[in-house]
Amino acid sequence: MYGMIHKAVRDMVEAQFGEEAWQKIAEDAGVSDEHLLSLNTYEDQVVYDMIGSATKMLGLTPVQVLEGFGYYFVTETLQNNYKSILQTYGKTSFELLENLNALHTSIKATFTGYKPPSFTVTHISPDEIDLVYESKRAGLTPFVRGLVAGAAAFYNESVSITEEHAIDFPDGESTRFRLVRE
Ligand code: HEM
Repeated sequence: MYGMIHKAVRDMVEAQFGEEAWQKIAEDAGVSDEHLLSLNTYEDQVVYDMIGSATKMLGLTPVQVLEGFGYYFVTETLQNNYKSILQTYGKTSFELLENLNALHTSIKATFTGYKPPSFTVTHISPDEIDLVYESKRAGLTPFVRGLVAGAAAFYNESVSITEEHAIDFPDGESTRFRLVRE
């Protein structure tokens, strides 16, 4: 994963639990400043180790850490650094989700060789969509739940995930969500 993701994990831990907590997690995960260069890529194992250590050190479940991180990633990392891109690709959370593949493609020149996920949106009714997530990585569905919640917060909307089903997807992970806007 790109270092910007590592940095975002560090920022979240420092903001919510303090610098000392981050130092402990970094030491446990074997992470140092050289893993925090935004535009460098690293083995996915580094980020999984960071999440694992955060789980252990903070007494949270992996699902709690990943959901919290998804929410933080949109409402802090992206909101502070990429707000205009979010606004360009969506005037609502549903529109942003519909345009996510285009958004990730548009930044390929910056994040060369990265492996973004794929999202497909099907409209059920004006306030209801099906969202299918596909990734070459496993285990990040809770991260997506947090991202969806963060996107709703970014647009000041109230959106709930009312259904979630795993889809068989060899060499990665795929999930279908039903999203309802109130
Ligand atoms: C300007 C906004 C955004 C930027 C700059 C961005 C950038 C990135 C980068 C650099 C990665 C790491 C991929 C890699 O290293 O191979 C990534 C992954 C990811 N992004 Fe985005 N992203 C943005 C918006 C979003 C939004 C709004 C969502 C969802 C609501 C999203 C969902 C994801 C997910 C789920 C991953 C994890 C990779 C996976 O599932 O395999 N991104 N993104």
